Formats: sequence, structure tokens, C-alpha cells
Amino acid sequence: MSQEVSSRSTWSNRWAFILVTIGSAVGLGNIWKFSYIAGASEGSVGVFVVVYLACVALIGLPLLMAEILIGRRGRGNPVAAMLNTAEESGNSSWWALLGWAGIFGALMILSFYSVVSGWMVDYFWQYLAKGVQVNTPEETKAAFDAMMADPWRLSFWHTIFMILTVGVVARGVVSGIEIANKIMIPMLFLILILLTLWGAAAGDMPTALRFMFNLKVEAIKAGVVIDGMGHAFFSLSLGMGAIMAYGSYLDKDTNIGNTCLWIAIVGALIGLLCGAAIFSLTFGYGLTPAAGPGLILQTLPLAFSDMPGGRIFAVFFFLLVIFAAWTSSISLLEPFVSWLTERFGIRRSFAAWGTALPVWLLGVAVCLSFNEWARFKILGRILFEMLDHLATRFMMPLSGLAIAIYVGWRLGKVIVLDEIRLKQRMFRLWFNVVRFIVPVGITMIFLYELVLRDWFK
Ligand code: PFF
Repeated sequence: MSQEVSSRSTWSNRWAFILVTIGSAVGLGNIWKFSYIAGASEGSVGVFVVVYLACVALIGLPLLMAEILIGRRGRGNPVAAMLNTAEESGNSSWWALLGWAGIFGALMILSFYSVVSGWMVDYFWQYLAKGVQVNTPEETKAAFDAMMADPWRLSFWHTIFMILTVGVVARGVVSGIEIANKIMIPMLFLILILLTLWGAAAGDMPTALRFMFNLKVEAIKAGVVIDGMGHAFFSLSLGMGAIMAYGSYLDKDTNIGNTCLWIAIVGALIGLLCGAAIFSLTFGYGLTPAAGPGLILQTLPLAFSDMPGGRIFAVFFFLLVIFAAWTSSISLLEPFVSWLTERFGIRRSFAAWGTALPVWLLGVAVCLSFNEWARFKILGRILFEMLDHLATRFMMPLSGLAIAIYVGWRLGKVIVLDEIRLKQRMFRLWFNVVRFIVPVGITMIFLYELVLRDWFK
């Protein structure tokens, strides 16, 4: 049964769509996660970066187009879009499971994403309100550890961040999500360019670049390859219904190919720029980049304390991170909210606050997993690590695999051609990549890590 979705909103124009999708893509992934995974794969950072970039180009970009195609064709939330396109193409309605996995997966990510975003709001507030002066690595570590040990403090900022997110989604697609992105993304660009130049002047950019692009294949550490792929998925918001939901508000005339090219290039570029700025400061001030998830909070404050104008730099830096995280978390909440409103005719604001409640609760459990509940481990991981691991290493690549099979092999060329209006040669190239390279690539990386690297350890 197809799901009729009446009077859906559409983005104001193509640029609005590019902005919101960049808003979804560029987030904590590019700033917090990129720098800490890269830092953690010491010795094989170059491999991680190259795998990441290759996956963005060969797997991410084609899948981005595929996901938008399904959303736009299906004209509905991810579940409805899958149902509608499956019906149109004579496929089983079981394919809707992919939509379900997306809308629930996105909420799962949002639960820990909001907690980490809360750390950033906490630091932003500290720098804004009173400034932070630290002199030794031990001091920054102690300050970070103190925050992580305090479930009330973590939960407080997590709550503030959830309220910010819901506040936007509740206002609607155009007057909430689009407007928020139109304000935040240009500001984010501006701050980023400023900070990269400042970071280069104050830090050690050559060492940072050497660190990021040093290709020592023999030093590959377990998990680096799948980390690179997982990160490409995470940083392009793939497989979780976010892009599909945004694509469903896209008008018929927009060229999906060109638009996605912009999104992928800008997304990767911002990631690399952030990485360069962060590592430039890290090396410039004689710090080490292998601090784990707390990297930017444990090393950068030392640089901020040392450099002239460091407090202003820090305020803008955390503002940048908050904008990036906020525009992404909006896209994590939207798929489920759009499903609730379209499926049950619930008022959007009601659906947004109602969805946020269980997500917020799970987030509080994540806050506790760092301290009170740290001894409860699932497969050796605390809840926070488990959720991240499950989403990034499992759900996103597997959903990506299923999307590639669906668009490449099940949807039928007529529908696909009608949506992806590329020149014949480009179309053939893209379609073959979706049919062959993407599924084979994802499967190979999975097998490689599973069989050869025992990556679930
Ligand atoms: N792309 C976002 C980031 O890099 O921080 C995270 C994200 C957003 C992942 C939306 C998945 C998603 F559906």
C-alpha cells in the first residue's frame, strides 16, 4: 500500500538544499571524530585519510545520489519513500525495513551525538563566561576528566543541546530547518576560514600536513581501513535516512549529480581544513594527537592558553563546533519526526518533542556510562562506545550496501534514469559504480576486517 503524503514542503531552491545537506554532513564527525580517529591511528594516519577520501569519492558520492533519488522519488519520510518506490517498481514492501533501520538508527546516533555536542557547549560556555587558563597537559586532562565524571553536568548540557535541536525541527522544514542552516552554515564557513589561517600562523602547519598525509602502508593498524570507510559514511550522513528525508523535500528540477558533487567536495574539504587547523595547533604547541575521544578538549585548551587572543579563538572555535553539530543533529531527528507527522497526522511540534524524550533518556544513560555505569560493558565497551561502534561500523555500511543493491538492481533503470538526469556516459559510469563498485567495495572491506583483522575486538 503506497503512503499518500499530502502537501509536502519543498526547499526554497537548489542552494537551500545544498546548504541543509552540507549542514547535515559537516558536524562533529568532521571536527571531533576525524581528528581523534586520525590521531588514534598514529603511524597510519595517511592510510586512514586516503581510505576516507577514496570512500567519499567511490562509495559516498554515488550513495549520496542514490539516497536522494529514493527520497525524491518516494516523496515521503524514509519509510514511506521506500514503500512508495518499492511499490512503483514492483518490489516487495520488505524493502521498507531499510527505511525503518534509518529512522531508528538516526535516533540512536542522536542520543550520543547530543551528549558529545553537550561537551562542546560546556567548553564554549566556560570560555565565554570566564576563560580557561591551563598550563600543563595534566591540568587539561584533569579538567576534562572532571567533566566526564559528573553525570549531572554532562546531562545538563546534553539537555540544552537537545532543546536546541528540537526547537528547530519543531518549527518545520522551511521555517525551521532551512532558516537555521541558512544562518549557521555561512557563519560556520567564515569562522572556519578565519580559524584555519589563524591556526596556521600560530601553529605548525607543515608538520600537521605531513602527519595527515604520511602514507606508511606497512604501519597499518587494525581497523584503519574500516574506520576510513565508516568515517566516510558518518561524515556524509549516509544510510540513516537523514539524506533520504532531506531529498524528499527536493523539487523535481534540481540536478542530483551536480548537487551531490558540491556536497561531497565541500564536506571532505571542511573535514580536512578542520583537521589541519587542529593538528597545526596540536603540533605547534608540542602536544600529542593521540588523546582519544577527548582530543580536541584535552589538547587544544593548552594551545588556547598559550596563544595571543586564545580565549577569543576558543570561543569562536567552540561556536563553530556547535553550529556544525546543531545542523547535523537536526537532520538526525527529522527522519523520525517526518514519519510520525506523515503517518499519524500528528502536529510537528508535538512529534518533535515526543521523539526527543526517549532519545534524551538514552542520552542520559550515555552520560552515566562514562562514570556511574562505566563498569557495565557490552562486548568490552561502555554504552557510548557501543552505540557509536554499532552505528558507524555496522549499520551505516550495511544500510549503504542495501541501498546500492536496491537502486542498482531492483528499482529499474527507467525510474533511476528519470531521477538522475546525467549525460549518458556519466550516467553509465555512476550506475555501474552503484551496481558493482559500491557493493563489492563495502563487502570486501567488511570481509578484510572481519577475517584478517578480527576487528570486532
Ligand atoms: N554527518 C554528521 C557528522 O559528520 O557529524 C553526523 C551524521 C548526521 C551522521 C546525520 C548520520 C546522519 F544521518
